[in-house]
Amino acid sequence: MRASVSATPGIRPDILAMRGYVPGEQLNSPDIVKLNTNENPYPPSPRVFEAVRAALTGDKLRKYPQPLGDDFRRAAGRVLGVDPDAILVGNGSDDILTILTRAFVPAGGLVVSPTPSYILYRELAALQGARFETVRFTDDWRLPRPWPARGAHLTFLPNPNSPSGTALTRDELTAFAEAVGGPLVLDEAYADFAAENGLDLPARFPNVVVTRTMSKGYALAGIRFGFAVADPAIIRELVKVKDSYNCDVLSLAAATAAIEDQEYYRGVWAKVIATRERMRAELVELGFEWTFSDANFLWCQREDRPVKPLYEALKARNILVRYMDYSGYDGVRISVGTDAEIDRLLTDLRSILAG
Ligand SMILES: Cc1ncc(COP(=O)(O)O)c(C=O)c1O
Repeated sequence: MRASVSATPGIRPDILAMRGYVPGEQLNSPDIVKLNTNENPYPPSPRVFEAVRAALTGDKLRKYPQPLGDDFRRAAGRVLGVDPDAILVGNGSDDILTILTRAFVPAGGLVVSPTPSYILYRELAALQGARFETVRFTDDWRLPRPWPARGAHLTFLPNPNSPSGTALTRDELTAFAEAVGGPLVLDEAYADFAAENGLDLPARFPNVVVTRTMSKGYALAGIRFGFAVADPAIIRELVKVKDSYNCDVLSLAAATAAIEDQEYYRGVWAKVIATRERMRAELVELGFEWTFSDANFLWCQREDRPVKPLYEALKARNILVRYMDYSGYDGVRISVGTDAEIDRLLTDLRSILAG
């Protein structure tokens, strides 16, 4: 028998105690209708493919990429109307969220976010040896007033929120930027599908950092690219924290081509939003609670029956949605797919509910 010696000598006790973030299931068989991690159901812009092909030269692959992603910063600055020096590039917005936590939160510090929301924030706080506190959204998915957790080292606010898909209005965001009393990360992973956003807030409130991802709106989850917009003085400090070359030549080429093709993506967003609204009406008809969404997914709960068996029954039929249980808030989060995928989802749900 082996002696009971630790198999993980030297690993920090707080890491051993962590559960670790568990991403949604990535079953990529072509038979599966994958509606569980909010990927875009449409392909990226044709210009992305051209740009990646053009980047596939021996010379480009042999050399290091631009450390700050200057070409992307210039393109994004032009398209979004922000100063390129106000942009930080990252290997997915999760990388940006990690950089922000490392830069703002000391060991033993305090990270706050509303709940239910993106589960990664808790893990980032734990990795930093920081405390993590949550503030419950109100029943109609607004923030409580007055905000009860002023002065945290970092407050994360996803807007639109996941899993609810709900969004605060610009007036609410502005009021919150003032009320929070410390650095605020406005996580706008789903802003491309929303009616409003807070991209101009960092220029007005130096405590606000906006984060964006190319994974959802730009159909590039596979290449891993996200970015932050903040006061250039903050960006200069964040650069000290990031890996020197946190984005590779291929992802930089793809992200730059994508952000430049706003016309293509406006068409994609309009299609996703149209499907979302149709899907919402039909889900309500099937007995799910009314849910408003400004994102590319719907948070579906029911009063009359538990939803976990629905998730399981759909999975048995090769339709993958995300079941989430936030003590008292369990539901399934369903990403908006193509119209054909959503038709199949609705047909199967109808038959499961009837059975
Ligand atoms: C609220 C929120 N923020 C950030 C992310 C991370 O996105 P990325 O793929 O850019 O790391 C996600 C992904 O699901 C998300 O839901």
